This record gives sequence, C-alpha cells and structure tokens, in this order.
Amino acid sequence: MAKKILIMVASPKNERSGTLIPTKAFVDGMLENGDYESEYVFIDRLNIKPCRGCLTCWGRPDGSCFIKDDDVPETRKKLEEADVVIWSFPLFLFSIPGQMKVLLDRIVGMVHPYMGQKLSGGNSTPDMNKPMHGLQHQKPGQKIILLSSCAWMDIDVVYEPIKKQFDIILGRGKYYLIACPQMRALHHRGGERRLNMLRKRYAAGGAELAKTDAISKEAIDLMQKPIFGEDAYVTLVTEFVTHMFDRDDNF
Ligand SMILES: Cc1cc2nc3c(=O)[nH]c(=O)nc-3n(C[C@H](O)[C@H](O)[C@H](O)COP(=O)(O)O)c2cc1C
Repeated sequence: MAKKILIMVASPKNERSGTLIPTKAFVDGMLENGDYESEYVFIDRLNIKPCRGCLTCWGRPDGSCFIKDDDVPETRKKLEEADVVIWSFPLFLFSIPGQMKVLLDRIVGMVHPYMGQKLSGGNSTPDMNKPMHGLQHQKPGQKIILLSSCAWMDIDVVYEPIKKQFDIILGRGKYYLIACPQMRALHHRGGERRLNMLRKRYAAGGAELAKTDAISKEAIDLMQKPIFGEDAYVTLVTEFVTHMFDRDDNF
C-alpha cells in the first residue's frame, strides 16, 4: 500500500504561497522515487476554533479535545495516520504563522502531558535529544518535516527560536527542519531559471528521503543554500520593498 504524505500548508497565501514552490518540488521528488501518495491541507481554509485552555485533552486516553464541531478532529486523524507530515510554513516574526499556532494548540493532546519532568542534563546544559514532551499519538516510523521559507539570508540565526521550540516539544533528531532563505524575492523576482535551480535541489532532497528513509545533512545544506549572492540580494530586496506598490501581485 502506498505511504501517505500529508502536507500541512500554513501560509495564508494558500496556493500562492512561495513556500509551496520548494515544498511541491520536495513532494514530487518523493512521489517519483517511491510508493507514496500525497494530500495537501490548507490550514488557512479550515474552520479551527482556538484552544480554550482547559487541558482536559491530557486527561483523555486518546488526547482528544472536547471541541468536536470544527475541522480539527478530522485533521488530527490525518496527522496521526500519515507516514510523512510536512509542515510547509513561512517564517512570521521568527516564529510560525498564527493559523498554524492555533491548530497546534488544539492538538496539544498529541504530545505527552507535562507532569513535572525536567530537562535531562539540567537547565544549564540541557540534553535536547530527550524531548520534554514527545508525541504520544503518532504512527510508528512517521517522519515530520518542517519546511519553511523566509526573507532573511541568515537562517542559522532566524530559525533559532523555531529549532528551540520544536527541540523541546518533539526532541532533537525527531524531525527535520529545512529552511529556505530569500524566498519572497526569489518567488517574485527570481525568474524561472533560479526557481528551477531551487526546485531541483528540493526534488533531490525528496528523492533521497524516498530512497533512503532519511535526509542527509548534505542534502539539507544544499536545499538551504541561498540562491542569490549577498550583495545582489540586498540590492534586489531593497528595490523590491521600495517599489512594493508598482506591482499588482502583492495580495
Ligand atoms: C507578518 C510577517 C512576518 C514575517 N516575519 C519574517 C521574519 O521574522 N523573518 C523572515 O526572514 N521573514 C519574515 N517574513 C517574510 C516571509 O517569511 C517570507 O516572505 C516567506 O517566504 C513567505 O512565504 P509564503 O509566500 O509561503 O507565505 C514575514 C512575513 C510576514 C507577512
């Protein structure tokens, strides 16, 4: 039976999301190199009521939320059953977009409850390989990929908060983070040649995952490599922002 790739698209731009460009290439790379099927879920279009903060989900054996009359129960089922979950999101204020946060809060019952556990290694030298929570309702062998794009070039710095957050929640090594820099300008000003260069790198990353069940550091480094040189990018991005309203593709 074909393995399921679930793509959770968190950009409010939905189909017009720039992050979808590398995401789709990665997924296509998987589809072409293994027995997979894919489903894209556009989070922005779902009806998601915000978490009420009761934490009663942690008291239920299945970790389910008491709110049943929106799209979260069905979405959670998909998240539990997928073999590969790709969270495709733009970096917003060095964090995840609000739509994704509202969904994640509602599925907090998918991680082990907090019952006073401490970071192993202590607070000063924490061992992030041991998560504080860890998933408790996850298909065995499920892979989780955070595939994000941003405007900045210095991804080590700008993705530090995301890394910290997901290391604490899931545990280091329990997910892959792939960060795609310069995306907004690349999307609008990159041209087909550069976009195809980007697609090729991501398709190779997806192919590697399909063939080897893992993504190497080399493949991640290549996917994350900026397409524009630093000086050219500064000029481009300055021009892009200065002439924001000369274009008709902002909204
Ligand atoms: C509200 C908002 C906040 C943003 N914050 C950041 C940020 O902190 N760092 C960054 O590099 N880019 C930031 N960006 C730029 C987006 O991450 C970038 O344009 C991304 O590629 C958009 O992806 P999308 O087209 O899939 O939505 C922000 C954009 C918006 C709209």
